[in-house]
Amino acid sequence: MKYIVTSALPYANGKLHVGHVAGAYLPADIFVRYLRLQGKDVVFVCGTDEHGTPISISADKEGIQPIEIVKRYHQSIKAAFDGIGIEFDNFSGTARAQHYELSQRFFSELYENGHIKAKTTRQFYCENCQRYLPDRYVEGTCPQCDKAGARGDQCDACGQTYETTALKDPVCKICGKRPVIKETKHWFILLDHFTEQLKQWISHKDYWKENVRNFMLNLLDQGLIERSITRDLSWGVPVPLKEAEGKVLYVWFDAPIGYISSTIEWAAKIGKPELWKDYWLDPDTHLIHFIGKDNIIFHALIWPAMLMGQNTKYCLPHDIPANEFMNLEGDKISTSRNWAIWVDEFVQDFDGEYLRYYLAANAPEKQDADFSFKDFQLKINGELNNVLGNLAHRVFSFAAKHFDSQIPCVSLDETPASLLTEADQIMTEIAASYENYQVKRNTRAIIDLARRGNRFFDEQKPWLVIKTDKEKVKQTLWVCASLLQRISVALSPIMPKHMLALRKMMSLPSLTCWQDAFIKQDFLLHEFKPLMKKIPDEAIAAQIQKLHSKADNSAKKDYEPIKAQISYEQFAALDLRLAKVLEASAIPKTDKLLKLKVDLGFETRELVAGIAQSYKAEDIIGKTVTMLVNLQPRKIRNTMSNGMILAAHDDDGLHLVSSDGGQPGAVVQ
Ligand code: 2FM
Ligand code: ZN
Repeated sequence: MKYIVTSALPYANGKLHVGHVAGAYLPADIFVRYLRLQGKDVVFVCGTDEHGTPISISADKEGIQPIEIVKRYHQSIKAAFDGIGIEFDNFSGTARAQHYELSQRFFSELYENGHIKAKTTRQFYCENCQRYLPDRYVEGTCPQCDKAGARGDQCDACGQTYETTALKDPVCKICGKRPVIKETKHWFILLDHFTEQLKQWISHKDYWKENVRNFMLNLLDQGLIERSITRDLSWGVPVPLKEAEGKVLYVWFDAPIGYISSTIEWAAKIGKPELWKDYWLDPDTHLIHFIGKDNIIFHALIWPAMLMGQNTKYCLPHDIPANEFMNLEGDKISTSRNWAIWVDEFVQDFDGEYLRYYLAANAPEKQDADFSFKDFQLKINGELNNVLGNLAHRVFSFAAKHFDSQIPCVSLDETPASLLTEADQIMTEIAASYENYQVKRNTRAIIDLARRGNRFFDEQKPWLVIKTDKEKVKQTLWVCASLLQRISVALSPIMPKHMLALRKMMSLPSLTCWQDAFIKQDFLLHEFKPLMKKIPDEAIAAQIQKLHSKADNSAKKDYEPIKAQISYEQFAALDLRLAKVLEASAIPKTDKLLKLKVDLGFETRELVAGIAQSYKAEDIIGKTVTMLVNLQPRKIRNTMSNGMILAAHDDDGLHLVSSDGGQPGAVVQ
């Protein structure tokens, strides 16, 4: 039986944070390490997801090419994975030639098989920027939940996806202006062609996690609709049709194909270019996709349909263990607010395997979890140090003091023998939980093994018994060492380096398989070096402080500090009025200024406003805005500017302070 294990391809548009790791990466890495201990044939692939509008928007903002952003974050993400021991067989990227080729082939085969059709669609178009605004290039109010800040393709608040033109109050993300709707041709995958096949396929998936299975059944119940798979963008895989020039494949069409192209790249790298076929073209391969819950629809519905529509018969997903989300100190992780723990920074301050342990012990398997620094400290100090570290320390020091660090295999009385029998039952349960992706339960079971060892040690009182019955003490030590031996195997998928170190200290050979846990042997212990270190309160306080200050700084970063206080009289000295814009025209040879004529009720005035980069003349005629009317007149570009209209300024540009009613000349106070 072969396995292909994948983790959702992270967007090459930002650094890796603990929420990512907890959802799709660590659980996959642990699962793969476990499978290998069971002697399974596994290939574990990933890579960066290098298309999509967030990447091209970042590139636009920095004035560089998208590939530069991609290179930067590909490296950064790869280094973060290395820092916490996530070891893919191959970590590729979707902007590589071979991926383009395969993605185009996927499209062409679906097209030739009649599963794709073209349609004229209505898309937002920004006349100011002279471009279509796919997906994240437009923002507005969600048509489903009415929250502001919804993107063109999805609302982050309610998770709904919708036709982009359904977005309310849309604005162009580049210039802040309201886009128009224009027609453009796009290509759609006809998902309903696959309804029966998908139903048949999912009917055998009763072992899936409930959240994934129910999600799918619900979608199938509602009836499948066609989904657009092309975009008007320059960054992406070009659509392989003559009439689609200038259009690219939707990022979610090409991304999952990255699982195959990464495997192909892996096979070539190890000098066996055909080997990927043994995995992908065998219908019995267990293809397992680890993802976050926001990716279910793409992996459980669209991707299998894409595979079903190919002439090449690829294996279909066997399982899709989707995890819930991880919050941080009670609040949603947010990269824009810098409310996140970045993996690269974390591993500067703590051992990467402490993070692995904590994220496993607190895995968001069935519900959202919360990363809390205090809880992190509690788990590392209380569980790893006080329970597991303590057991090792006691066994090693007692054996050194009384047995020259040698613990021979002895025959056991009933009590120690039954402890070991129980331990072996727990080991069987641990193996089953790894198979079912339940790592959280396993951290508890493993620590429970160590706890039982400590309790047994206490009950046996070897420090007293040594005076009268040395043979009995040998049994106590041998059983406790045997528990450590089991733990060195059971915990190794989660903390591989620490468990290797423990095995070395016990002169156990490097791990080869799960059965290594049960080999009966004499133990020769080396000098004890503490396995883990406790995390002091100060280190935790410093992390909490750093987290808050980074978030505060990021909230403040674009703003000027508050100005000095003023008196009411000073404020009252400003004569602010509503003004209706009667005329507006661009001032030649400048791209910033507009000349305005406004009605103030008691008179009309002329003024020059520096708003041309955010507003076109025709857009503001008729608007009622706020104006400072007693500002000293000033000559600007040959026009006497008599007053100033007010506008707010942020990352998206200028926003006129307009009024929702009121007569020109009305006093603003
Ligand atoms: O949500 C995300 O981060 C996507 N980049 C995941 C892609 S998974 C796969 F399909 F490649
Ligand atoms: Zn625009």
